[in-house]
Amino acid sequence: MNIAIDGPAGAGKSTVARKVAEQLGYVYIDTGAMYRAVTLCAQRANVATNQNTKLADLVKSLEIELEPGETGQSVFVNGENVTALIRTREVTLQVSHVAANETVREVLGIMQRRLAKRKGVVMDGRDIGSHVLPDAELKVFLTASVKERALRRYREIADSQNITLEQLETEIADRDRLDEQRDISPLVCASDAIVLDSTAMTIDEVINAIVKLSRTKMAEAK
Ligand code: CDP
Repeated sequence: MNIAIDGPAGAGKSTVARKVAEQLGYVYIDTGAMYRAVTLCAQRANVATNQNTKLADLVKSLEIELEPGETGQSVFVNGENVTALIRTREVTLQVSHVAANETVREVLGIMQRRLAKRKGVVMDGRDIGSHVLPDAELKVFLTASVKERALRRYREIADSQNITLEQLETEIADRDRLDEQRDISPLVCASDAIVLDSTAMTIDEVINAIVKLSRTKMAEAK
């Protein structure tokens, strides 16, 4: 089966999705990394987020590959390893604008569906259960309070990026707003998704809850 995990920034999706995939022997696909990779390439090519035609041409010229690794997923664009480069603040601040582009979403959506065709994937993002894989057998909407999400992200990146907790909270809230309000496949909780609020849960509790849900779904399908 396929598992879709959607939710806002900092809810813990990528850590949880990777571990769930590991436990089930599934393939983990981080779709946010794909949007980040396009953003990095747009910045390098000096393509602004409102230059629709240029952005569309750019995304079509990219071959994005995701490779599983020990500590996460490695991301390659046209053969170059951009895993660390897509996590900079410059990329984070722009990515939701790039992700609002119709062609970018269309091209990446096709790639994502192809990756999930043979089933056995855990895919995380914003529109996986609602748009990319509406037939996913298990859909989870993972969320947490904005304060808690900012705090988690702060602990993750404060040492490497010069940023305060307050700045992070504002940036996360801005990104939530952009992702929720865009016209094309916005961040929404699919009607058949199970909502998990992880504000007061540990990562392991969330992982166990999703693994349990997936086992129940698998047993039901037999
Ligand atoms: O890891 P973090 O929560 O910061 O975000 P991400 O998963 O790396 O996604 C970065 C951005 O890509 C999001 O804020 C969205 O704007 C966009 N995105 C999207 O539009 N659709 C997806 N399926 C995944 C990400």
